Amino acid sequence: MSSSFKTFLKHTAKDFHNQSVNPPVVRASTIIFKSLQDIRKTQAKAKKNPIGGHYDYGRQGTSTTYILQKILTKLEESYHVFTTPTGFGSVFLSIISVVRPGDEIIISDPVYSPTRVLTEKFLKEFNISTVFYNPHDLNSISQNITKKTKLIYVENPGSNTFEFQDLRKIISIAKKNRILTAIDNTWATPYYFKPIKFGFDMSIVSATKYYSGHSDVMGGSLAVNKKVFNKVKIAEKMIGLRLGPDDAYLITRGLRTLDVRLDRHSENTKKVAEFLSKFKKIKLLYPYKKNSFNYKMWKKYYSGASGLMGLIIKSKNKNSVRKFVNSLKLFGHGYSWGGFESLALHQETVETGKRKYGNLGKDEHLVRLHIGLEDSSDLISDIKQALKHLK
Ligand SMILES: Cc1ncc(COP(=O)(O)O)c(C=O)c1O
Repeated sequence: MSSSFKTFLKHTAKDFHNQSVNPPVVRASTIIFKSLQDIRKTQAKAKKNPIGGHYDYGRQGTSTTYILQKILTKLEESYHVFTTPTGFGSVFLSIISVVRPGDEIIISDPVYSPTRVLTEKFLKEFNISTVFYNPHDLNSISQNITKKTKLIYVENPGSNTFEFQDLRKIISIAKKNRILTAIDNTWATPYYFKPIKFGFDMSIVSATKYYSGHSDVMGGSLAVNKKVFNKVKIAEKMIGLRLGPDDAYLITRGLRTLDVRLDRHSENTKKVAEFLSKFKKIKLLYPYKKNSFNYKMWKKYYSGASGLMGLIIKSKNKNSVRKFVNSLKLFGHGYSWGGFESLALHQETVETGKRKYGNLGKDEHLVRLHIGLEDSSDLISDIKQALKHLK
């Protein structure tokens, strides 16, 4: 009997040996073998099957990390998924696996700000250069391709400003020019969009967000196809960028309810978006307005939308925007998102990074809301009272 992924998420990784619903947390540095010959046998098996499941030392992971990797590989429909101690670790691993000194990267302009600093500043010191493309003018990818271009790196939608791009075009430009591709898919997760199946070579998700879902763990995943598997495997081994078993356990636990939580985030966010769409001072950065380009691009490629949205608020009074955010009672003020709770932030250059395209106009302010799993009518009432401060 083949079961749906939702059923698989609930039933997989039971511990039949100990008869517990959940798998044990196996913590290990030293792994003990019955004999010296057994060590060699395990090493031979690991060589024959590099996907995993055979360990001779804790840095390679344990059965707890392997279970998580297996679940994620099925969710991603990928060749393999590497797991890292943070989402940013997966961003770094994806890039460092495939670029070398002298190479160039083409990257979407509204990218997660630390990814921008990593490529533009840190990797520059290693003679790796970066150009940023306009997410709504993909000619700016083609125009910047040179013989040295090794990677097109996409984040979809754009960080904080939520631009949706024509992903099919990006893949076709990359394939035509034999350039590898990576996408940061944290906003949608493979529950709503499966990048590897679609044609990307690598796909990053910060497991800190929806995978864990409870704001109490950091982690990252990097899904890959067969083509890049060896390159990533070597880099991962050399850097030692691997998730610990306790965090792997928590992320596996979170994944049991990924579908249920994302469905509810999505439902709540749609209701909040509907409410906010009535305010003239507010432009919604969420796939909501049916005739917009962003909506069309979202609809074309995604089966759902998560709980993170942006608002561009038009106001001559910046303090009143801050007061609106500060007056929200059910929304915490802090970084990250993807947990069960609602969050609100006023976004400035420190959050967005210095961008080339699509910057805010005069008297425009950016606010980010993460819509949690609370009762949507409570959230809407809270936003309603806080909006009274907006001038
Ligand atoms: C889109 C995106 N990618 C990657 C990351 C990095 O993930 P982590 O915080 O788990 O390192 C974040 C974190 O906010 C993010 O928003």
